[in-house]
Amino acid sequence: MTEASAGPRGQLTTRTIAMPADANPSGDIFGGWVLSQMDLAAGICAGKRARGRVATIAIDAMKFIKPVFVGDVMSVYAVLARSGRTSMTLHIEAWAERERFGESVQVTEAQFTFVAIDEAGKTRPLPALES
Ligand SMILES: CC(C)(COP(=O)(O)OP(=O)(O)OC[C@H]1O[C@@H](n2cnc3c(N)ncnc32)[C@H](O)[C@@H]1OP(=O)(O)O)[C@@H](O)C(=O)NCCC(=O)NCCS
Repeated sequence: MTEASAGPRGQLTTRTIAMPADANPSGDIFGGWVLSQMDLAAGICAGKRARGRVATIAIDAMKFIKPVFVGDVMSVYAVLARSGRTSMTLHIEAWAERERFGESVQVTEAQFTFVAIDEAGKTRPLPALES
């Protein structure tokens, strides 16, 4: 069992509110919506590191820890965990603030791997890290 961490790990990258259109008839938010918000945040972080176009190649260790409800404010945190030759892995966490102003709870975490690609969609080496 994954224990929720004491606080968010990484940089706050996106923040959005879970709307009724993103929920199932029971009022719980679809996992696919949460995943897409995490993919967006990971893409922002990966695009910065790669200084250009990137594509998601893998999502690993995806864990839905707690549900997200309509009205929750979802914050997604991203941190670069690994840089390879053309790929990079980001640790992504989503936290939900209940009923907009309530307690914040970790709802998911996963490792997203992105590849830097060129205009033709072919892999390209990551640029050197800025000091
Ligand atoms: C991204 C893409 C161009 C990469 O091409 P590829 O020929 O598969 O790439 P390679 O095998 O050369 O691997 C590229 C890098 O990804 C890494 N990689 C490949 N598969 C991986 C996996 N399952 N998990 C983690 N990393 C992986 C490789 O280790 C390599 O990293 P490195 O250069 O840092 O060592 C191609 O896979 C692609 O277009 N995929 C679709 C992307 C997409 O549409 N994403 C959105 C999905 S909805």
